[in-house]
Amino acid sequence: MITVVLLTLVTLIFLYQLYKYAVARPEGFPPGPPRLPIFGSYLFMLLINHKYLHKAVLQLSKWYKSDIIGLYVGSFQIAVVHNGEAVREILNNQLCDGRPVVYLSKIRDPEVCVRGIFFKDGILWKEQRRFILRYLRDFGFGRRFDQLENVIAEEITDMLEIIRSGPRYAHEHELVKPGGYRIQLPLFFSPFAANSHFSVVYNERTSRPEMAKLIKLIQFGLQFQRNGDDYGRMLSIIPWIRHIWPETSGYKKLYEANMFIYQYFAEIVDRHLLTYDENFERNFIDIYIAEMKKDLPKEYGFNREQFIMGLIDFSFPAFTALGNQATLIVQYLMLNPEVTKRIQREIDDVVGSGRLPTLDDREKMPYTEATIRETMRIDTLVPSDVPHKALEDIELMGYRIPKDTLVIPSLYAMHMDKRIWGDPENFRPERFLDEQGNLCLKKDLSLPFGAGKRLCAGETFARNMLFLITTAMLQNFDYVLAPGDSLPDLSKNEVGLVLTPPDYWVQLKERS
Ligand code: HEM
Repeated sequence: MITVVLLTLVTLIFLYQLYKYAVARPEGFPPGPPRLPIFGSYLFMLLINHKYLHKAVLQLSKWYKSDIIGLYVGSFQIAVVHNGEAVREILNNQLCDGRPVVYLSKIRDPEVCVRGIFFKDGILWKEQRRFILRYLRDFGFGRRFDQLENVIAEEITDMLEIIRSGPRYAHEHELVKPGGYRIQLPLFFSPFAANSHFSVVYNERTSRPEMAKLIKLIQFGLQFQRNGDDYGRMLSIIPWIRHIWPETSGYKKLYEANMFIYQYFAEIVDRHLLTYDENFERNFIDIYIAEMKKDLPKEYGFNREQFIMGLIDFSFPAFTALGNQATLIVQYLMLNPEVTKRIQREIDDVVGSGRLPTLDDREKMPYTEATIRETMRIDTLVPSDVPHKALEDIELMGYRIPKDTLVIPSLYAMHMDKRIWGDPENFRPERFLDEQGNLCLKKDLSLPFGAGKRLCAGETFARNMLFLITTAMLQNFDYVLAPGDSLPDLSKNEVGLVLTPPDYWVQLKERS
């Protein structure tokens, strides 16, 4: 009898403790789902929508009737915001400019120290970001620069030529089918975007015969992206599962991709270090090496490892995200043929067919620009933004957010908010035009690149490239369906680290 009473008592105490743990939260913290030991609220999020976690959290927001949700992913305490004003507030508040040390950020660095730009904060992030942006600018990054625009035009010419000629080298079979006019997305655009970016960074481009390794780099980049999610996957929560399920946990794929990418950039940095001559500055990499040789405070981070990771962070989106975004645009063009026709008419009127579209044409092509912006709104490439972290205790939407809480401004929720857009679910480029058909930037409240001090470092470059790639393609080709093809199915797009369309082949037809 006494044993039964004792057992019941212990069970009750245990259940009570479990309940207390599940509902406990810091005073003044936003409402949200209960948490389980080890997993926090992550399992609930998976149950609600395992494919699109940003939608799962938005659903929670609706259930709790609150634009701000407090939840736990493993041991990470998180506040997610689904309201335009609060999203802006987070992005523009420097006390929210911290970055969490999520597991994914650790395993991408072979030395297991977190470096780079994306996942750093404090003085090192400030110094590195400022320095890299300041000096890349000299080589045309983030501004108009003839030399770079000529390079991009050459890359786009190569891109069009591959479509017409079909593969000339073994590795080009990954990009285009024999006979041409059939390309693999999202891979196809990336070698040319990457080459344009590398010409800024170290004044070199990979020519068609030598592109095999660059194509591998892009494929590994996509592999890395596809094996994450916006909350770091189960690996963030229980890192040791990598030893038990290296495959299913995604660890093996992440690690393999990570090692290739690291080696790729380490070789570039080391080659420059080996041949460095202080009297002869070749490119941005030499400028960085010169800085490394100065006697700067250690915490500024001017050293080889930090440089490799910084270079990866500044290049990774150029050889992955840009191609993904250009592919999302193709999907919407194929699904909206009348929009495509209208862009083609604009291209014919402004550019004609005798030369490639240039950035000078951009302001004369408001409908094209509006379409690109509308695609970036309706399908947010980085739906949960890159997570921020509160550097101090702060107040947000009337709630208390303790220091070190991850704060996630849901760009997706903001882009789909009826209160801002009226009809967010409709693809309607006209929403960014005024009555005369001019682009009206005041109407574009979307924030696909974030904002504030953490604003995407590559926004201008990305916007320019998206315009040039999209218009060059539509000037020359129509996207059509070959026998057996079907229209893009948007529900097949996955959210890894960013929104990624699956690999698929698209048929092109020469425009008459
Ligand atoms: C369409 C393409 C792109 C989109 C939609 C995009 C979007 C974003 C977003 C949402 C962030 C996070 C902002 C935040 O923390 O609040 C970000 C960060 C960043 N992006 Fe992009 N990006 C794109 C392309 C690029 C390109 C081409 C580059 C470089 C060549 C680049 C470099 C970076 C860097 C370095 C950061 C980290 C900034 C920091 O933490 O200080 N991005 N991007």
